[in-house]
Amino acid sequence: MFPDLTSTRFQPRRYCPGGVGNWSGHLPFAADLIACTKPSLVVELGTHYGESYFGFCQAIQQQEISCRAFAVDTWKGDSQTGLYSSAVFAEVSAHNAEHYGSFSTLLPMSFDEALSCTHFADGTIDLLHLDGCHTYDAIKHDFEGWLPKVAAGGIILIHDISVQRDNFGAPRFWEEVSARFPSFAFHHSCGLGVIANSEAEQLENPFLTALFGGKCNPRVIRDYYVLCAERLHYAFLVQAERNPTCQVFSPDATGYSEERSASLAVSPGAWADVEVDVPVPSGRLRLDPVNCVSAVEVSEIVVESPSAGNVLWSLDPGHSDQVLCAGTAIRMPEDGKVIILSYGDDPQVYLPQLEIPDGDGSIRVRFSVRIDRFSLRIHRDFRIVEPLLVRYSKACSAASNLEVAHARAQSDLARLRADYNACAQFRQEAEAEVVRMRSMLNAVSQRSASDAGHSREDEAIS
Ligand SMILES: C[S@@+](CC[C@H](N)C(=O)[O-])C[C@H]1O[C@@H](n2cnc3c(N)ncnc32)[C@H](O)[C@@H]1O
Repeated sequence: MFPDLTSTRFQPRRYCPGGVGNWSGHLPFAADLIACTKPSLVVELGTHYGESYFGFCQAIQQQEISCRAFAVDTWKGDSQTGLYSSAVFAEVSAHNAEHYGSFSTLLPMSFDEALSCTHFADGTIDLLHLDGCHTYDAIKHDFEGWLPKVAAGGIILIHDISVQRDNFGAPRFWEEVSARFPSFAFHHSCGLGVIANSEAEQLENPFLTALFGGKCNPRVIRDYYVLCAERLHYAFLVQAERNPTCQVFSPDATGYSEERSASLAVSPGAWADVEVDVPVPSGRLRLDPVNCVSAVEVSEIVVESPSAGNVLWSLDPGHSDQVLCAGTAIRMPEDGKVIILSYGDDPQVYLPQLEIPDGDGSIRVRFSVRIDRFSLRIHRDFRIVEPLLVRYSKACSAASNLEVAHARAQSDLARLRADYNACAQFRQEAEAEVVRMRSMLNAVSQRSASDAGHSREDEAIS
């Protein structure tokens, strides 16, 4: 299973899109699953920004597998993601057309509607990923409805099996369904359940037998993919640190979203002037001055109406406490200044609520920002994780060597047993010979004893 896994070098094109990274940690496993099982038909139910789906697509493309892929989603959201705007589908569609248009199709419809699509005959889907609404009833409904579409030996993935909150029913559903099929559970990144639509003994693919067969220690497999996930995460943080961006969010009634934001790259180490236009907010404007671990100073914040040309609000150094910090931002106690330390990739600075006259379609936000990176911690963590990953790769390939050694010992044993059985006739003949010789020996010894008796009698007579 382990000697040449693509997970060790898979670099997802799409990571944490729209700031949603619940699936990020499973991308290395997705790459291996695609590479090792070479599916012909992949279907995802629940795609949103497409982190998981485009992970599958990228692996299909890089492995040059002949495969059709379909993503099904209303692209409107559900009770758990919340409702989102049509801009999400527009962006996902553009990404799909740009990179995967030759084999991937997006189906903007409900899962039930897609069931009757001609693309999905019964018993044809090699990989089905269920990641829609995660209430118990919804997931059971999706699973039971789509199970007949899955090929014999096909794989079903269920996300969020470790999420124990609100009305998430995936853990309960997983408990039930994992008992019915060969199954494997990952606990990181909200949990991912893997199921094979077959009996465990019928699986011949070495990757799947390692996963479901029980010969490989499940903890080693889990640890390996956790480390792969961490490697991607740190690479992502380091990348953000090399190319920091700042972003301005303007909320609507549903909250803050990528679609209602504007971002700009900022060079670290010097003051940069930022100017972006965003839609009129229906709550506090939010500045994310950077997307990595760093020290940041923000000054001269001005919000103005581009159409009327008037200033709606500007930062008064005497009232800098009007600005609130949240997320990974820690505000430094510095009079009149907005200086923050960000210990992560999501520092947030909220401006006061503004009264904006009707009729203004957008507003302009200007500010100066200076980013000073203190990357030591990240680099230290990265240096800790990297050798661990190498060690686990070695352990995994040693585990694979063990399997080879075990298989060889078994075949040696089988050969010896065959030799032993082939000798049975010879052994019987030899045993009969021994019996014959023993009885001859007995006969001889009896004869010599009686001969000796006769000669003593003869001596006495004479
Ligand atoms: C958790 S998100 C998917 C996350 C995605 N797989 C990723 O990698 O980030 C769930 C998505 O399922 C969609 N959805 C939920 N129930 C649905 C249904 N019955 N039919 C179609 N789409 C649905 C929602 O619109 C939402 O975009």
